Amino acid sequence: MKGKPGRVLISAEEIGRRTEELAREISEDYAGRDLVMVGVLKGAFVFLADLARRVRIPLEIDFVAVSSYGSDTESSGVVRIMKDLDLDIAGKDVLLVEDIVDTGLTLKYLVGLLKERGPASVEICALLNKPEARKVDLEVKYSGFDVPPLFVVGYGLDYAERFRQLPYVGVLEDQEGSGRLS
Ligand code: IMP
Ligand code: MG
Repeated sequence: MKGKPGRVLISAEEIGRRTEELAREISEDYAGRDLVMVGVLKGAFVFLADLARRVRIPLEIDFVAVSSYGSDTESSGVVRIMKDLDLDIAGKDVLLVEDIVDTGLTLKYLVGLLKERGPASVEICALLNKPEARKVDLEVKYSGFDVPPLFVVGYGLDYAERFRQLPYVGVLEDQEGSGRLS
């Protein structure tokens, strides 16, 4: 298998500091509300764990797993739910937690789907944002870092299921400038 982590793009320390800031904002914005953090598996599991532990208000946690129809390299925008929520989100304030927003197709679809279940609100918190790759209009209320259109791994993000455990975000070696691979 080709591809291994190259240069560090965002260090573990930088991620920690930014996550703390985001958690503080979320704690203020959602005080007195009914917050449900929904992690999008698998990529969001590391970020959600670190973010949730820094939030200082009561919250519930749930997960969805989705798979995108289409080829490996082109997201079609049609998403199939592989693991649905366990919680009823009607009347609750849903915060979708994602590793990275690339084209935005996955989250656009998910937001629409969850809104049909009558939540009080649905917002997005993503560790990484690739604005140059966006194909649909999507409001990312809480965004950790803007990154260039490179394929990145670590801190939950994988290349062929590897490198999710890295404590930092790195650029996949030899992939500089090639955009997305999966
Ligand atoms: P979108 O629908 O194009 O926004 O797809 C977002 C999903 O694609 C993310 O949740 C990741 O799983 C995956 N993805 C996009 N860019 C990268 C990357 O640079 N590294 C690893 N996964 C990525
Ligand atoms: Mg993902």
